[in-house]
Amino acid sequence: MSEDSGQIDHVFHERRKFAPPAEFTKRSVVSSQDQYAELCQRATENRDEFWKAEAEEHLHWFEPFDSVCEFNAPDVKWFDGGKTNASYNCLDKHVEEGRGNRTAIIWEGEPGDTRSLTYAELRKEVAKCAEAMLELGVGAGDVVSIYMPMTPELAIAMLGCARIGAVHSVIFAGFSAESIADRNNDAKAKLVITSDGLHRRGKVLPLKETVDEALAKSPTVEKCLVLRRIGNSDTPMTEGRDHWWHDVVDKQQGELHAAPMDSEAPLFILYTSGSTGKPKGILHTTAGYNLWAKRTFQWVFDHREDDIYWCTADCGWITGHSYIVYGPLSAGATCLIYEGAPNFPAENRFWELVEKYRVTILYTAPTAIRAFIKWGDEHVEKHDLSSLRLLGSVGEGINPETWIWYHEKIGGSKCPIVDTWWQTETGGIMMSPLPGITATKPGSCTFPLPGVVPKIVDELGGDVDDQHGGMLCIAQPWPGMLRGIWGDHQRFVQQYWTTVPGMYLTGDNARRDRDGYYWIMGRIDDVINVSGHRLSTIEVESTLVSHDCVCEAAVVGRPHELKGQAISAFVTIKDAEPTEELRQELKQYVRKQIGALAQPDDIRFAESLPKTRSGKIMRRLLRDVASGREVAGDTSTLEDLSVLAKLADEEA
Ligand code: WTA
Repeated sequence: MSEDSGQIDHVFHERRKFAPPAEFTKRSVVSSQDQYAELCQRATENRDEFWKAEAEEHLHWFEPFDSVCEFNAPDVKWFDGGKTNASYNCLDKHVEEGRGNRTAIIWEGEPGDTRSLTYAELRKEVAKCAEAMLELGVGAGDVVSIYMPMTPELAIAMLGCARIGAVHSVIFAGFSAESIADRNNDAKAKLVITSDGLHRRGKVLPLKETVDEALAKSPTVEKCLVLRRIGNSDTPMTEGRDHWWHDVVDKQQGELHAAPMDSEAPLFILYTSGSTGKPKGILHTTAGYNLWAKRTFQWVFDHREDDIYWCTADCGWITGHSYIVYGPLSAGATCLIYEGAPNFPAENRFWELVEKYRVTILYTAPTAIRAFIKWGDEHVEKHDLSSLRLLGSVGEGINPETWIWYHEKIGGSKCPIVDTWWQTETGGIMMSPLPGITATKPGSCTFPLPGVVPKIVDELGGDVDDQHGGMLCIAQPWPGMLRGIWGDHQRFVQQYWTTVPGMYLTGDNARRDRDGYYWIMGRIDDVINVSGHRLSTIEVESTLVSHDCVCEAAVVGRPHELKGQAISAFVTIKDAEPTEELRQELKQYVRKQIGALAQPDDIRFAESLPKTRSGKIMRRLLRDVASGREVAGDTSTLEDLSVLAKLADEEA
């Protein structure tokens, strides 16, 4: 932990505390400590009874379930025997209950085009998309890869899959052709849904070309459905395989009913980086996930009828799944979706949107907040942000100074901040303040939600002094928990359930202070967090080593003002000179293989990599080197890191 301890100590000495505004408490969904304590007690002590009532009240059941929770670690079944449908819960339920005219989605594209859909309209579009998928030969259990810009059609495609029981696998539209092909092949995807392109910072990126490159290596994919987003007339279309959305979706009736699905039927796969090798497909199933997304949304965001809720995430990540699509729509919320960059055409775009649509709840990431701070307060001050009543943060720890800026400049010192800790694997928020009752401490995700039982343990699974900190585990099953890694049960068991038997290992370190507040202290493993996105250092290393000129590579994270962590690579080379050209070539190579997110910020050439006597790369040492000084243009010489290694060895 030593490499991070400076920041942690800093965070841990944070003494400021912010009480929930009284006005807020009066009306909130969870409005007293007693109510919270009672929810937690019932959810843990009478788990089945509690979740039975929750599921019956909050989901629609075509057929009732027989049991609530069957847990035989690591396997779990929630609401077994029941039949429901996530698209029904998000759409039909509202239409049936007379809320069809409520606005579901308000959308704005980067160029300024807009669209708005009521729940009834959204249901129709989703049904049409589902009908088109059936026509293209997709059925229940088939996997559909979705590689699209943040248009309403992205949410429509996800819900369209859910409607017929197809399993979606959304791939963030910044990933490379290689990454798409890997995911298509791992999941055995049958259909890919994409668009002719996307708008990003005023430029147009041609997505379909990238998909074509991926499809050349994706033998299981039979069809490709293409949305016209940018009107690119020379989009390549392969006869028989590729179909325009406006040809096959628009002509449908839009009357298809939602298929009753087993509670444990797969709803989606989402690929995320683990500590080793290739990204893994995290599997979530229907009923438990849906319930968890809905209830955590209602508890944490204190949702009210008149809210305009905006989550700035992309549906390519879990935050977009749970808090743009399944959570808010199940709760009947009105959601703003914005397609583009926060600084296009200017650095005030987000605040312009908040003012224009009178956004009341804003959920964003620390990396974005740090960028706003850097861009300057003047972009914020131009706008009337008085509609905001609640702010959220997700993706990485928020450092106290960033928290304070968010609180004062965006929230006008009146909005509570919910710092939500969770993971792709957990399906939804696990720890967070509840805005009506929790006094917040900047940098702490505060307390667990009802039904979440965190436990901090040492490497052997033994109890530790909470204040000292240790590995964060979850000791009881919760409805939104992952059900597995797609096609790799062994890895699922190994990764999450072996280190501490019987408990879910989160991969994060945490500490609990004297008041019982939780503080997340970063990862235990070799996962780094770049702009709130998980990347495995080993994935980047393997890619570098696959380049002809690279013998060995070590990748570490170093602190970065905006991104949280930047990627530093150390490589030893063969048959090549350590030139600036080679450095650029390697950066582009990683970008092409994995995607722009994974491109190393700096690459150092080394004579050899520092290793322990047992041959393990001394990452801690490399982290020190990486964070110690900026890479200047003159580092094309080879660094002799073995000297450092020797010094470190002597110290040890
Ligand atoms: C980190 C994103 C501190 C953590 C929802 C976790 C956080 C990983 C927070 C999951 C937070 C996420 N405070 N750390 N509020 N939120 N993290 O799967 O290390 O993309 O394990 O899910 O992000 O990232 P993932």
